[in-house]
Amino acid sequence: MSAPRPIAVLGGTGPEGFGLALRWAQAGETVIVGSRDAKRAQDAADKIKQKVGASAKISGNGNSAACADADLLVLTIPFEGHAALLKQLKPAIRAGSIVIDATVPLAASVGGRASRTLGVWQGSAAQETAELVPKGVSVVAAFQNVGADLLNADGPVDCDVMVCSDDPAALQVVRDLATKIPSVRAIDGGKLENARILEQITALLIGLNIRHKGHSGIRITGLPAAAYKLE
Ligand SMILES: NC(=O)c1ccc[n+]([C@@H]2O[C@H](COP(=O)([O-])OP(=O)(O)OC[C@H]3O[C@@H](n4cnc5c(N)ncnc54)[C@H](OP(=O)(O)O)[C@@H]3O)[C@@H](O)[C@H]2O)c1
Repeated sequence: MSAPRPIAVLGGTGPEGFGLALRWAQAGETVIVGSRDAKRAQDAADKIKQKVGASAKISGNGNSAACADADLLVLTIPFEGHAALLKQLKPAIRAGSIVIDATVPLAASVGGRASRTLGVWQGSAAQETAELVPKGVSVVAAFQNVGADLLNADGPVDCDVMVCSDDPAALQVVRDLATKIPSVRAIDGGKLENARILEQITALLIGLNIRHKGHSGIRITGLPAAAYKLE
């Protein structure tokens, strides 16, 4: 069954957001691609429609307008724009919204290596988000460890998605969303503070991809079956 509310993918013109928007559109979700430029967002949405078919419920708009029309917001922007964008979007984020943060504070944002992360004062990009969203908005960390190459390729995505939040209800909503991607298992990863570990794992995966020339992801073994949520 489709989620009852539209998903706005902010920065959805980049490979990570585009891949998530594509997968959710393929799953029948209503998706709005967000961008700093409404025309760029519309072009990305048109590309997704071409891939998915005319029935795809996908549109594009400026980031603020996309926020205003949705209450599931996905942040897929580089860390250097993270705080500034959240401050700009604050008036447009509706009470009761869920902000899903896939941002990784890669050192590449400031000219360093993509296989290293920056120290973030709050502990992680997702915890920074929690400080910047309006009251009554829940923050969930997820999708940092699912590479854009896998999302934009055809076929299932051989990855587990760890979902972390201090709001258990929001965490479950995002677990449901993650399992709309074929083969993805969504695991309750605990409190939002664990986002710092998820963000570090991405740097490791990037290093592995460079070293071994692949598209790595993670699978968690050894938990009881109930810990793994599959569609
Ligand atoms: N790529 C991956 O495989 C991958 C995997 C896991 C997590 N992530 C994380 O997901 C996020 C997006 O990754 P990506 O590779 O898609 O990044 P990207 O291509 O560098 O950026 C995504 C989009 O963000 C917007 N943007 C760029 N600079 C911005 C700024 N200063 N302020 C506001 N918006 C800005 C751009 O859209 P507009 O110009 O249209 O506004 C761009 O298309 C990053 O934090 C990354 O670490 C990426």
